[in-house]
Amino acid sequence: MNGIQIVSTGRALPKQVVSNDDLSRIVDTNDEWITARTGIKNRFKCEEETCVSLAVEASSKALENAGIDKNEIGAVIVATSTGDYVFPSVACMIQKELGLNEEITAFDLSSACTGFLHGLSVARGLLPTLGKKYILLVGSEKMSKIMDYSDRSTCILFGDGAGAAILAESDNIYYQRCWSRGNNELIACKGVGEESSYITMNGQEVFRFAVTVLNQAVSQILTDAGLTMDDIDYCVCHQANSRIIQHVAKRFKGHEDKFYVNIERYGNTSAASIPIALDELWQEGRLKKGMKIICVGFGAGLTWSSALLQV
Ligand code: UT7
Repeated sequence: MNGIQIVSTGRALPKQVVSNDDLSRIVDTNDEWITARTGIKNRFKCEEETCVSLAVEASSKALENAGIDKNEIGAVIVATSTGDYVFPSVACMIQKELGLNEEITAFDLSSACTGFLHGLSVARGLLPTLGKKYILLVGSEKMSKIMDYSDRSTCILFGDGAGAAILAESDNIYYQRCWSRGNNELIACKGVGEESSYITMNGQEVFRFAVTVLNQAVSQILTDAGLTMDDIDYCVCHQANSRIIQHVAKRFKGHEDKFYVNIERYGNTSAASIPIALDELWQEGRLKKGMKIICVGFGAGLTWSSALLQV
């Protein structure tokens, strides 16, 4: 076996929905601008919820949907930049809250919006070594805690949420590529102990980076697999801006509908955006066993990664 398979998914969102109009009451912006420039209408924002509570809820649903024995989980990996603590990790708290076996590998992975893809890559390497059948991979973010709500170019973009997937080894096809280009100028968040713990971003430059690498990542993984877009059922990209996805989708003429977009409901949920999208597709019955999908993550680092897999 050389690949991995997504056995099931789950997602969790905070109760509070924040619309563009809501934001226009606290910062100089408006629904028309946000909709036209980003495709976003609403995003979720934590009140009572935490990064851990969202991750636990998404994970419980993924476990329930998989119908597996939770003792068969050998690792919990959480992709997040906004865990509730520097330590303990969100992954360790999931182990506790879900009552998972203590003989388990549990850790968080910091890779911003590419986190879920890097999680897939790590899971693929770990699975044959665990002596257990499954890995629980979660993307969970409380982005609102690193938002400067006086910076209209960033605070309108991001949202809170979590998505989870149960992964298993598989003979199904699996191709993945990962790229990294160190850069702390275009998008960064200094974090703990610094005078500002908010995201800073050069939106235009990040946009340019995103469309270039998204196109490259999709084309490269198709070449690696010896396939074309005709063979692919869905392309699930990180949801950063609908214009980024549409820009790249246009280059795959006749296949634009395969590029899934749900950013209007969630905003950019960073590491959670891809598993949330996958869960929507599963729950709506649009994703069926055997289908071939491409997932692409990109973001701060800078990093980007694409995977072509059969669900
Ligand atoms: O997960 C990966 C992380 N991030 C991304 O992928 C973000 C990528 N970048 C983007 O999505 C876009 O660059 C933004 C949505 C952030 C900005 O859109 P843009 O079309 O690049 O706008 P801009 O920065 O060029 O700004 C155009 C105008 C400016 O006004 P002037 O100078 O032309 O008068 C901005 O001040 O829009 C203004 N503006 C706003 N107006 C109303 C910026 N933000 C807002 C706002 N509401 N929220």
